[in-house]
Amino acid sequence: MKTIDQVDLAGKRVLIRADLNAPIRNGQVTSAARIKSALPTIRQALDAGAAVMVMSHLGRPEEGGFDEAFSLAPVAGKLGELLGRSVKLVRDWIDGVEVEAGQLVLLENVRFLEGEKANDSHLARKMAALADVLVFDAFAAAHRAQASTEGLIRHAAVACAGPLLMREVASLQKALASPERPMVAIVGGAKVSSKLTVLEALIDKVDQLIVGGGIANTFLVAAGYDVGGSLYEKDLVDTARDLIRRAEHKGAAIPLPVDVLTAERFHEDAHATIRDTGRVHKEEMILDIGPESARTLAAIVRGAGTVLWNGPLGVFEFEAFHSGTETIAQAVADCEGFTLAGGGDTIAAIEKFHVADRIDYISTAGGAFLEYVEGKELPAIRALSD
Ligand code: 3PG
Ligand code: MG
Repeated sequence: MKTIDQVDLAGKRVLIRADLNAPIRNGQVTSAARIKSALPTIRQALDAGAAVMVMSHLGRPEEGGFDEAFSLAPVAGKLGELLGRSVKLVRDWIDGVEVEAGQLVLLENVRFLEGEKANDSHLARKMAALADVLVFDAFAAAHRAQASTEGLIRHAAVACAGPLLMREVASLQKALASPERPMVAIVGGAKVSSKLTVLEALIDKVDQLIVGGGIANTFLVAAGYDVGGSLYEKDLVDTARDLIRRAEHKGAAIPLPVDVLTAERFHEDAHATIRDTGRVHKEEMILDIGPESARTLAAIVRGAGTVLWNGPLGVFEFEAFHSGTETIAQAVADCEGFTLAGGGDTIAAIEKFHVADRIDYISTAGGAFLEYVEGKELPAIRALSD
């Protein structure tokens, strides 16, 4: 891939496709992680003397018109605050943008345009025509073949990979290509089905695969435990059993919790009861791992040469069920090996437990992170490589 350092930006019209798809509540950005990650690239282009346009999507609005609820206005405000300069948000930009060298403008949500999702080539060409140079830096959207990603890259006069995208790919490569051993992956979340291909890809790479959340429940059932009224996927029990066998066959392991925290209702005020695994009552649900399991799994994580973390271990948003995820988050932070984390829930947990500065790399991506781990080729990266 061509990188930003191989392109002369001075006096050029530079379009940066970033992923500023930040969570917004009541018109306020609630996590600025993605915006902060985009700053070095924006500063680099401005310092080089470029006329800078930043493009992003936000949420999943209906195409074909403006919708205040999906406006990038809160992002423009946050970006301005972080850069210490005002950032103009341009509502109608597809037919041309006025911007001078040294100036910065943010283009309104690219998903308002008809044809974005379908990767319409006419639309992609018009986007490409706005600039002399495209800096594609939206790793978190690299798994989407849309007009402002794959299409735009293919039609740009000059396209290069941005520094954030390069860092994301290098970190994933470091964790996956020839990891320091032991390699430990932590995969949490509600469903085996949504992470099945990730689990399958990882089982061949890791020494220990720690599963959490609803995913762990399906594995517990596969291992012969009664999970009471817990959420699990019946259809995937055989698949989970097969993964356990595959791990054993290659000398790896999927360590399951020996104790769990349960509740009789899924509620933020629910009271936690510690149970040995397999002793869960039929009206109870497992909402976190127990203290003994947290200690054991944390020791595995701390001793790792490489840790790849996606997904929480329990319902960490509820006060009584945060401790499993917190203990593991602390263990990732304490680990002296290379640690990499990604995904929206994971980032929320990292922020909640204040461990961000002790994790080697935190990806801005969710879906793209998982697809990369699965070994899939991401359309935008493919286009950049071509
Ligand atoms: C994300 O948040 O995962 C990326 O910004 C991509 O957004 P999308 O899932 O709506 O395409
Ligand atoms: Mg997504």
